[in-house]
Amino acid sequence: MSLLEVKNVTKRFSGLVAVNEVSMNVEEGQIVGVIGPNGAGKTTLFNCIAGALPPSSGSILFDGREVAGKKPYDICQLGITRTFQVVKPFGSKTVLYNTMVGAFAQTKLLHEAEHNALEVLKFLHLDHKKDVVSKSLTLPERKKLELARALATKPKLLLLDEVMAGLRPSEVTDMLPIIRKINETGVTIVIVEHIMQAIMNLSEKIYVVNFGKKIAEGVPHDVVANEEVIKAYLGDAYVATQH
Ligand SMILES: Nc1ncnc2c1ncn2[C@@H]1O[C@H](COP(=O)(O)OP(=O)(O)O)[C@@H](O)[C@H]1O
Ligand SMILES: [Mg+2]
Repeated sequence: MSLLEVKNVTKRFSGLVAVNEVSMNVEEGQIVGVIGPNGAGKTTLFNCIAGALPPSSGSILFDGREVAGKKPYDICQLGITRTFQVVKPFGSKTVLYNTMVGAFAQTKLLHEAEHNALEVLKFLHLDHKKDVVSKSLTLPERKKLELARALATKPKLLLLDEVMAGLRPSEVTDMLPIIRKINETGVTIVIVEHIMQAIMNLSEKIYVVNFGKKIAEGVPHDVVANEEVIKAYLGDAYVATQH
């Protein structure tokens, strides 16, 4: 049984079909990439999986249990957590406070939430910033805080929505081992990202979406050689850089 089974999920916004009959399987322990042009429906798919939006139709099984249409809080309790494309910490609050917000998904006890949050901050090498207000963090630090907040909920499945967007190439290079390390602790990851270096480096399998539809799936090597994927997303420029 796959950890996550998305079956024929469709999400309509009045006239627009943002996600169109998309199916995907994620096995426990995998890192799976999702790529596609802006507006392809990647974030909407995450919203459906994490419960921010109910799908119009289709099924989403997590650990064999139907989660389509459940509320975000309940889905988070079951073990799915997502990060947001636009990082939105409570800016005037500290790094520790923001991380504890995530930790409270798993415990009501203040000291336990603080303990768990500190563990996560240590794991991400962000504990030295615990008392700093979030708005004074650098962009890479804010991205790490977003990961910390998500990890503090103790997810089984982590949905990463462009966590590396806006980072410099050297900062992306620093982020890759962190994501791998998260995966090695037993967290299954689905990652939406435009930075192909990151997607190719991390993903065991890639899904490609365009205009809401899945147009390809497979191992990275095959997917980037797929004519339709090159035409819809990668472009000849990417292909040229690979030779
Ligand atoms: N809440 C919403 N209401 C109406 N349209 C939306 C909403 N969210 C996304 N869309 C539309 O759905 C399409 C897919 O968007 P999105 O999932 O954000 O794409 P991606 O993340 O792949 O860039 C876009 O055309 C977008 O404008
Ligand atoms: Mg998006």
